[in-house]
Amino acid sequence: MADLSIQAAGIRHPNPFLLASGPPGTNGKVIKRSFALGWGGAVCKTLSLDSNKVINTVPRYGKLTARTRPEEVIGFENIELISDRPFAAWLEELHDCKRAYPDRVLIASVMEEYRKDAWVEIVERVQQTGVDALELNFSCPHGLPERRMGAAMGMDPEIVEEVTGWVKKAARVPVYAKMTPNVTDPTAAALAAVRGGADGLAAINTVLCVIGVDLETLRPLPTVEGYSTPGGYSGPAIRPIALRHVMEIARACPGVGVSGMGGIETAEDAVQFMLLGAHTTQVCTGAMLHGYEIIEELCAGLVAFMERHGFQRVAEFIGRSLPFFTTHADLVERQRAAKQGKAALTARDDLWQGDIAGETRGLLGE
Ligand SMILES: Cc1cc2nc3c(=O)[nH]c(=O)nc-3n(C[C@H](O)[C@H](O)[C@H](O)COP(=O)(O)O)c2cc1C
Repeated sequence: MADLSIQAAGIRHPNPFLLASGPPGTNGKVIKRSFALGWGGAVCKTLSLDSNKVINTVPRYGKLTARTRPEEVIGFENIELISDRPFAAWLEELHDCKRAYPDRVLIASVMEEYRKDAWVEIVERVQQTGVDALELNFSCPHGLPERRMGAAMGMDPEIVEEVTGWVKKAARVPVYAKMTPNVTDPTAAALAAVRGGADGLAAINTVLCVIGVDLETLRPLPTVEGYSTPGGYSGPAIRPIALRHVMEIARACPGVGVSGMGGIETAEDAVQFMLLGAHTTQVCTGAMLHGYEIIEELCAGLVAFMERHGFQRVAEFIGRSLPFFTTHADLVERQRAAKQGKAALTARDDLWQGDIAGETRGLLGE
């Protein structure tokens, strides 16, 4: 039987699936329910010291659906802020969750203003609850950047290094930095977090977007009193972007625990993140749209994948696909060499090229 446990950033996870910070981890009650269903861990909705400053709007979500199957959500926008629940209530609930499920990994997502005393205070008070790790939210792309928080920090490698350093001095548990995809080079901030002492890197948070415009009212969506603001895009549509970010981060930061997320709904989705270097994976939108019960398929599908390939432990295939990235110039050279017979085409390469040719013909309507 395949062993689904995995060690990441110094923490043993019973399986590599965690709920990502967001509505699925909005309070202790739902986190405990997810643990009962089999999730290996959960990252709670991001906390801050003063929830009175957090004011959400209604509506705050928007959906992009498949043209031919409107019930299928491809992409999801939110303009939701971090948790608007009192900090004291969170401290109690985190303590209670950990006591009820000591074998599950409970990670507290935290965010504060750009002040050392605020970050030190939140870290010191949250870690007293017994959480296994902290995840620093350097990446919420909407609302909070107006207060110079979230992605406003994560886009600036110097600030990422400095704040991670403040946290590391106060922290007695491993520290993850959660990265924004809204940058050209994801490795700059990731390397800065590692210089600051981060034990792990979580990626990606949402991609800044405008989900659409209402063609009746001519107002952008989601519309709040006639107006809107760009929000965070998540769900299957962002998976290819997330895979690329995780791949770049894993290659640039070997030896650091990587937690990958963005559009994961099935075990096959999650395995791809692991093949590109993620030790654990997180799910937010998938659990919102399909329910916490997807954990059953995630675990069963992972076991099936491991058995098909003869892997006994998850660690055996983390990063397995990373060595097969190269430059475009190298691809051209490999193809030229193959054509000239300098390197024999394997049967597998042949098949793959046939598939691509077929796909191209299909696209061109031939
Ligand atoms: C409604 C909503 C609220 C979210 N709130 C948070 C949050 O409080 N803190 C955080 O770090 N990420 C937050 N996220 C981002 C997710 O944790 C995750 O990084 C992102 O959505 C990509 O994963 P997914 O496609 O599985 O949702 C939120 C996402 C959604 C959809």
